[in-house]
Amino acid sequence: MPLPDSSSRLVTVSLPSPLSVAIGKALAMETTPLLLERFPDGELHVAVSSSVRGRPIALLQSLGPPIGDSMMTMALAADAIHRAGATSLAGIVPYLAYARQDRRHAEGESLGAAVIAALFAACRFDRLVMVDVHTPAIEGFFACPVEHLTAEPLLAQAIAPLAGADGVVVAPDLGAAKLARRHARRLGLPLAIVHKTRLNPREVSTGEVVGDVRNRRPIVVDDMISTGTTVAAAVDALLDRGALPDVVVAATHGVFAPGWQAALASDAIRHVVVTDSVPGVAADAVDARVQRVSLAPLLAEAIRALDLGLPLGALLTSA
Ligand code: R5P
Repeated sequence: MPLPDSSSRLVTVSLPSPLSVAIGKALAMETTPLLLERFPDGELHVAVSSSVRGRPIALLQSLGPPIGDSMMTMALAADAIHRAGATSLAGIVPYLAYARQDRRHAEGESLGAAVIAALFAACRFDRLVMVDVHTPAIEGFFACPVEHLTAEPLLAQAIAPLAGADGVVVAPDLGAAKLARRHARRLGLPLAIVHKTRLNPREVSTGEVVGDVRNRRPIVVDDMISTGTTVAAAVDALLDRGALPDVVVAATHGVFAPGWQAALASDAIRHVVVTDSVPGVAADAVDARVQRVSLAPLLAEAIRALDLGLPLGALLTSA
């Protein structure tokens, strides 16, 4: 439902991007652009217009690559908005980096998710809105309330026409099992789970596949595609067990880190559906199999609900 300008004092501040423009349109509100410059030594410089004074602000910033710059931009923008006299500040974070570093695997390691949460605390947000965070439990690391939205219904709409009656929804690792079960229920299809072990950031190995995939068309679902190695390993394991070479891959976050094209080169992968949570990654421009579903309706509705003090209800993730 579009929000008329006159009913709100809320301003959305963002770097210009297709997602911010689409959110502005859906809210029938203008998005105030964040001004960003880089000094020759690499320092970032951020400024906001005076329209934020005396108003509640929603700051839209995704932590996509380059992640350090994205985080620093968010911190500088939050500071600029506070100093410019905003009455409150909500952080709208379509993709939260470092969420995979939710535990330490060995002595001497850092705990990335706790560190990123500490950096957010320095930004003094009143509320955070995030989408399909890798580990929802890391909400507990954050100092302010977190609204955890899900893109599952948007992705489900895109997957449904691609899924035949002979489909099987596949979790490429145990972490994606609950997500895959929800998609399987929605689509009325069986479920399969691939056992994956991560060897290092670029390599995984797969073990058994639980569930019958023979002569079925796999729909592999995950929270994110980074290097693509998880999906690629799952597809190999499925083909080895007789699945049809007609695979749909769907994930909320298309990070598409270097190497993803080689990893996803298999002709068996026919469609890759992701959202626009990670800006600036033109995967769909270089690979016609990649389809982007916009988060704009979801985020616009969440911003509208926050502005009007309404519950977020069905927009929130389910366990
Ligand atoms: C891991 O637990 C995540 O859910 C994804 O499966 C993984 O991070 C994807 O990364 P990559 O594409 O580099 O395998």
